[in-house]
Amino acid sequence: MRVGILTGGGDCPGLNAVIRGIVRKGERVFGDELLGFRDGWKGVMDGDFLRLDVATLRGTLPRGGTILGTSRIQPFMFEDGVERTIRSVEELGVDAIIAIGGEGTLACASELHKRGLPIVGVPKTIDNDIGLTERTFGFDTAVAIATEAIDRLHTTAESHNRVMVVEVMGRHVGHIATWAGIAGGATVTLIPEEPFDIDEVCQSLTRRHKRGRFASIVVVAEGAKPKEGTIEVEPDQFDEFGHVRLGGIGNVVANEIEGRTGFETRVTILGHVQRGGTPTAYDRVLSTWFGVAAVDAVHEEAWGQMVALQSNEVVLVRLSDAVRELKFVNPHLWAVAQQFFA
Ligand code: F6P
Repeated sequence: MRVGILTGGGDCPGLNAVIRGIVRKGERVFGDELLGFRDGWKGVMDGDFLRLDVATLRGTLPRGGTILGTSRIQPFMFEDGVERTIRSVEELGVDAIIAIGGEGTLACASELHKRGLPIVGVPKTIDNDIGLTERTFGFDTAVAIATEAIDRLHTTAESHNRVMVVEVMGRHVGHIATWAGIAGGATVTLIPEEPFDIDEVCQSLTRRHKRGRFASIVVVAEGAKPKEGTIEVEPDQFDEFGHVRLGGIGNVVANEIEGRTGFETRVTILGHVQRGGTPTAYDRVLSTWFGVAAVDAVHEEAWGQMVALQSNEVVLVRLSDAVRELKFVNPHLWAVAQQFFA
């Protein structure tokens, strides 16, 4: 078969390992011809691709990012985009597309599948927020990076008797914040799922500091929101694709803490550091498994399906079901995190 692969949306550690898994089994077992579309759906629409084989993928397993490039451009953004995409797939003689992406890329895959394209999805995002899969690759790496940063911030916070606010990624969900907060021993964690009351945050910090502990770590997911009517935040900014541009709540929270408690406070915004660099061993394994399972799914003609991790098995779920709603933080795990708040 002629199989096209694309990576769309924000990059994520493990993308190259997925591509490598697909190519390895596709070429060696199925005798497939593999094409890698450049820059996500844009490459499919424009017929822009490179040929992939086992040799091309050599050395890529530990490499972050994606050798194919990525973008948020999708056919549905253009009047003739869907038509161009379908035509390009036909002209290139592509029998199947494996779309590796997050909510936007996979929602697009689901819609294009409804219009007749043979597509299999692979869920990726450091945010771990895709429905029907217990994990997305990239998340483990992001948590490891955030935890290491928190560990480092503890010692400087203690030396200076400071509050350290650490802003981590997590646009709609607080998986990274919750996991890194637990792993790093955060004093308080703020996540998008639970609007926070800054008064309560300051009271907890004051209580803790009265008990003789002066250094505190406050982990804030970039999408965390204050409770209605508590503190003023700047109106949301949007990027060219209509996505809210986040990254700023950490500063707001730090200013409020310092102003209300008088505790010296500093902010660290981890940003894209969490997304770059080499994947953890766990993410390499999950990505490889997803890649191999995706090419198997292609040969089962499981169109409109997505590979997913459920109960330690890689299974297939319907793309349209997976993109229906985001996966939020498990309330039981959130309750565990709360046990350790000041
Ligand atoms: O979707 C993953 C993510 O890392 C979000 O947590 C974050 O808001 C977003 O990507 C930022 O992406 P970019 O700055 O590349 O547009």
